[in-house]
Amino acid sequence: MNEQFRSIVEHTSLPYDKRSVDPYTRARVLLMIAIENNAVMMKHRLARATDDDALKKHLAIVRRAESLQHQAVSSLIPADETPLETAIGLEQMVVDLTADLAQNEADDYFKQALDFALLEDLDHLFRFSLMYRMVEGGDAGWLTRDRTPIVAGRPTSAQHRHPVDELRPHFDLDEVPLRTLMNHLTIVSAEQEKMLFYKSSIRAYPEELTRRLFGEIAMVEEQHLSQYEDLGDPHTTPMELLVLMELNEAYNYFSAFKGESDPAIRTLWSELMEQELEHFHLAVALMERIEGRDAHELLGDAMIPSLIELKPNIGYIEALLSTQVNLQPFDGEFIPESRLPADWPSFSFRERMNSRGSPADEVEKRRPRERIRRPA
Ligand SMILES: [Fe+2]
Ligand SMILES: [Fe+2]
Ligand SMILES: [Fe+2]
Ligand SMILES: [Fe+2]
Repeated sequence: MNEQFRSIVEHTSLPYDKRSVDPYTRARVLLMIAIENNAVMMKHRLARATDDDALKKHLAIVRRAESLQHQAVSSLIPADETPLETAIGLEQMVVDLTADLAQNEADDYFKQALDFALLEDLDHLFRFSLMYRMVEGGDAGWLTRDRTPIVAGRPTSAQHRHPVDELRPHFDLDEVPLRTLMNHLTIVSAEQEKMLFYKSSIRAYPEELTRRLFGEIAMVEEQHLSQYEDLGDPHTTPMELLVLMELNEAYNYFSAFKGESDPAIRTLWSELMEQELEHFHLAVALMERIEGRDAHELLGDAMIPSLIELKPNIGYIEALLSTQVNLQPFDGEFIPESRLPADWPSFSFRERMNSRGSPADEVEKRRPRERIRRPA
């Protein structure tokens, strides 16, 4: 672990160039920021709830390394990338991430939840793109290189649901494959990151409509985070969670490394993956000491048959759009809105939320007609 602490200046990276960066390099950077942020915060939470000296010491050391990794990845974002550009990058990342996870998800209900939220994040990408053109004169299709469709999904104003309608039944740890556990930790991290980023971006713009749009979409990301958290097994022990999270970090870095086209960033992914393997081995040893359990009970042979790939999913997204845009959650299922009971709690909640208009609707009403291309 000592080698993971270098001079402080070495934990800040050189940023990418926003004019030439591959959209999926940006997506991988944003995903790894999300994963590291969750790793740091989860270790703080675990430390607050334990009095075990060995665990506390382990968390103190590894958490510091996570925090420095988080800085190394966060500093890849250049200063001239605006919050709206990052928001578009985040939604492109999560749309194609969710599509990849859904197509590699063995648990049927979890897959449905992924498909469900995908069409909502697709709509966020659309609304942020309209706002970007309006406020900064930018073209989101240029930022995303047209690799992800920028089209209306399930309208954001129809996404405001009562908190109880975001409760979901959970899967069981011993009944799902390892890829499901990885998918779960990954999507929880991504949705949490968007919620935090949008809330902190409200202050970044003077225009009232932009501020309100960030607030409106931040609230939906809070809902998405709630839905996904609920799907996870609440009986997971703190040590199991620690081991799984380290494995997930290593798995995500390896996936990023395999897909990366930027040589410097590819090297960073491989270095950070090596660090995560050390975190993982330490966590496995600690679980054996504290819980007297062999990690094989939890991980089996620890084989995950496929990697997370960030790439275009245009056909998959179009198929979802044509069949699932009118679904809503009810009673452990996703059903067409027309079949919902009149007393579905979200009907009145949505009415209340939209009673003075929805910023996401407003931005579409005001959409400028012309298309502006930024010079490459
Ligand atoms: Fe990490
Ligand atoms: Fe979103
Ligand atoms: Fe989301
Ligand atoms: Fe880690």
